[in-house]
Amino acid sequence: MGGVCGVISRSGSDVIGIVVECLRRMAFRGSDTAGIAFLRDHIIEVRKGVGDINKVYRDRALSSCRSDVAIGHTRFSTHGRPHVDNAHPHADCSCLIAVVGDGAIANYEMLRDELFVKGHRVVSRCDFEVIAHLLEDELKEGISVEEAVAAVARKLEGFFSFVVLHAESRSILAYTSLQELYVGLSRDLIAIASTRSSLHGFTDVVTELRGGELAVLSRDGVRFMDVKEMRPLEKEFKPLEVKAEYIYTDGFPHHMLREIYEIPYALLRTLSSIQEKYLTFASRLLQEAESIYIIADGTSLHAGLVGSYYLSELAKISPIVVSAAEFPLYYVENVGPGTVVIAISQSGETSDVIKSVYEAKLRGATILGITNYIGSKLANLSNLYLPIAAGPELAVPATKTFTSTLAVLYIVALRVAKERRELSASEFRNRVEELKKYALELTKHMKNIDAVASEAAKKIVKCRSGYVISRGITYPIALEGALKLKEVAYIHAEGIEAGEFKHGPIVLIGENFFTIFIVPVEKVAAEATYPLMKVAKERGATVISVGFEHDENLRMVGVPTLLVPPTTRHIAPIAFAIPLQFLSYRLGELLGRPIDSPRYLVKKVTH
Ligand code: F6R
Repeated sequence: MGGVCGVISRSGSDVIGIVVECLRRMAFRGSDTAGIAFLRDHIIEVRKGVGDINKVYRDRALSSCRSDVAIGHTRFSTHGRPHVDNAHPHADCSCLIAVVGDGAIANYEMLRDELFVKGHRVVSRCDFEVIAHLLEDELKEGISVEEAVAAVARKLEGFFSFVVLHAESRSILAYTSLQELYVGLSRDLIAIASTRSSLHGFTDVVTELRGGELAVLSRDGVRFMDVKEMRPLEKEFKPLEVKAEYIYTDGFPHHMLREIYEIPYALLRTLSSIQEKYLTFASRLLQEAESIYIIADGTSLHAGLVGSYYLSELAKISPIVVSAAEFPLYYVENVGPGTVVIAISQSGETSDVIKSVYEAKLRGATILGITNYIGSKLANLSNLYLPIAAGPELAVPATKTFTSTLAVLYIVALRVAKERRELSASEFRNRVEELKKYALELTKHMKNIDAVASEAAKKIVKCRSGYVISRGITYPIALEGALKLKEVAYIHAEGIEAGEFKHGPIVLIGENFFTIFIVPVEKVAAEATYPLMKVAKERGATVISVGFEHDENLRMVGVPTLLVPPTTRHIAPIAFAIPLQFLSYRLGELLGRPIDSPRYLVKKVTH
């Protein structure tokens, strides 16, 4: 993942400073490496390195570069560690093309193997390098550069966008399968970037590239094409309006809000980033294990709890889920060479997780790490690691990494189920496809989910305490919802299992107390939950429910509802987490909390 950009000046003035500033404004998308490629006469020159764009600017003397055509990149590592070879831009063997990309190419390993056989010098582990070499091959066929880009785009699977600098035509070409990409225009500049706000002040009007569209930027202007049908497109440009104070957070007042909105895209990236061979390896490990522990803390522990439902229901494997803080004290004595420890940590640095992993390894256990950071301690200590690939998460409260971790655990469980013949190959494919489709569907609903959560927040804001209630596979989401309310809004909240409601928790129900019911997905469990809502309502509590659109029963109960599009039982935990995250955010906002950096909390709990 990362931020891409490209700029051309019609008058021939220098654009390097503009590319560098665009990259600074996209640093929140990743800053493991950065780089630019530009034309010096008709030759492409690449300058790149490890670190953020400011470091690369100093280390690679970017202030001495001049060009009227340039592309740039700032990177979050998902394929290949932060290393200069893995940094974008990537050039082809003859250095006539340079490429930068965002997202993940699902079939890159296969394409890379084919390129090796053809004799290409593929030097990195980065998935986007294949594009430069594939383009080189296409151009040898004598076709135009836009036909070549279209042909390559058709070969790629996953969710990605890429920008190409082509030396011969002095043009910049960009394609997106879905990832955000914006084209901006001013009197002098024609520019493209992953975020609208990075173009603020450089271009006056902007348009968004949609999935399957290609843009060709040159001194003469910009043209758009539909790649499937290879026909020209007309696109409407609108004035570029971004609040100047938010240009470094993509127009959002807080990273947390931006990161919640990013969830559908993060899910798609996660699905494209899990490589086939690692999935097979993970599945074998789990099938052969004598015992399996899932260890994690906080939000990641809640993801692990959902993961245990996935593994037991789909793969017929029953892992023991333990807080990483407890594991070395109470469980490690049972660990041996037949044990597999699934260690989850978005940061990959949490000291409890790392200590648990050390202790388990000392006793011969195999570690399957799940983390968002490729260079983290957890990734390095794991025998096998699967990337969360959600992109950088800058707000302390975890949001998109939670939903993407659920996606990783779901895919792993599906894979084991397939290999154990609990699921057929087509059922496996359909379920993965269902999750992709759901993520795509979510992109259309995020604004509405947020708007409804904002209204619900106004009802809850007077309360100082409450419950989040559910059962079964969505019970961990009640725990997670309560954690988010505490962290972000500083409101006391407790996750309650619905069946336990009448066995004690009910005594607190009354005025100024809220109860949020996440309606369980199973019909019988849902039917047992509606009466509890009525009880809470009758006793004066502020009742909110979280459920699926078109739930008639929920409408009859007559309480404000946070609705998400209907989905399957196993995708429901991902879906229900989103309105609760929005609700916590909006409450934190109403109460004036320091949302991105709650007091006493840090992003990496290292001691
Ligand atoms: C939740 C949160 C914490 C973390 C916990 C584990 O919003 O920020 O509860 O989830 O500290 O962190 P990782 O996943 O980095 O190990």
